[in-house]
Amino acid sequence: MKIDGKTRTCGLIGNPVEHTLSPVIHNTLAERFGHNLVYVPFPVETGRLGAAVEGAAALQLLGLNVTVPYKSEVIPFLQEVDPLAAAIGAVNTLVSVNGGYKGYNTDMDGLYRAMETEGIRINGEEILLLGAGGASRAVAYLCAVKGAKQVYLLNRTLDKAERVAKEVNDATGRQVIVPMALSAYNTLPDRQFLAIQGTSVGLYPNVSEAVIGEDDFYSRIHTGFDLIYSPWETTFMKRVKEHGGHACNGLKMLLYQGVIAYELWNGVEVSEEDAGVVYEKLKEHFI
Ligand code: ATR
Repeated sequence: MKIDGKTRTCGLIGNPVEHTLSPVIHNTLAERFGHNLVYVPFPVETGRLGAAVEGAAALQLLGLNVTVPYKSEVIPFLQEVDPLAAAIGAVNTLVSVNGGYKGYNTDMDGLYRAMETEGIRINGEEILLLGAGGASRAVAYLCAVKGAKQVYLLNRTLDKAERVAKEVNDATGRQVIVPMALSAYNTLPDRQFLAIQGTSVGLYPNVSEAVIGEDDFYSRIHTGFDLIYSPWETTFMKRVKEHGGHACNGLKMLLYQGVIAYELWNGVEVSEEDAGVVYEKLKEHFI
């Protein structure tokens, strides 16, 4: 890497940021493209988010990613917000625009692109979505917008699922999200589904946990997509495979949210070949 007077900087703001894999994505892409760009993590302490965004603009940083706990909190500090990100209420990518930043949500486009590369369709499908936290809410929105036929939103706490379903159905004008208690899974129609696992259950170090344990739940799944990528294979994914289903982790979602951010910052299109090179580098951190 050659750093000189023309080097542009991108980075990640969040707290904590020490374990991020995003530098692998962006610095690899910069190298592949021959862009004079570096990507670095910037920890931002509680209460300093506004100062961080303003400081980034003053320093003319080309772009930033935003992670936990600031994806919603950052919105008031932006000049513009892309409609999808505004509807989801969460921003993970800031792109420099006339002295400030425009916010995007590339997590959802990243998930969509990851699913496309795995040959997983949303349009016309009946989908099980596990969890009703911020991540699942965004996935529910994505599924509604991308033409899912029906999404059964299963959550331990039913009223939270009901709230998210109403919000997404109202926002998209489609009565597509059906809230259910997790424990009521056995009342689902008798067929096989794509299941998206959007809770934090099973995340490292609690690797032996899964959001649901019952065998007859897993026999209803033809494909299980876990948003978690650490561990490489979650208990949810293992259970799906044990019952003959296909399972994917969330690493390609991480990859493509970064790829899309890189495209927004640099006005380029990242080829599948380059995305594949980045993916192999990311994988080295797991296997
Ligand atoms: P976010 O997606 O906003 O980051 P999270 O804290 O990662 O949120 O995950 C919250 C989701 O995980 C919720 O759907 C939560 O269920 P409740 O609404 O019932 O709390 C779900 N969740 C967390 N721990 C769980 C557990 N042990 N069993 C079942 N669901 C659980």
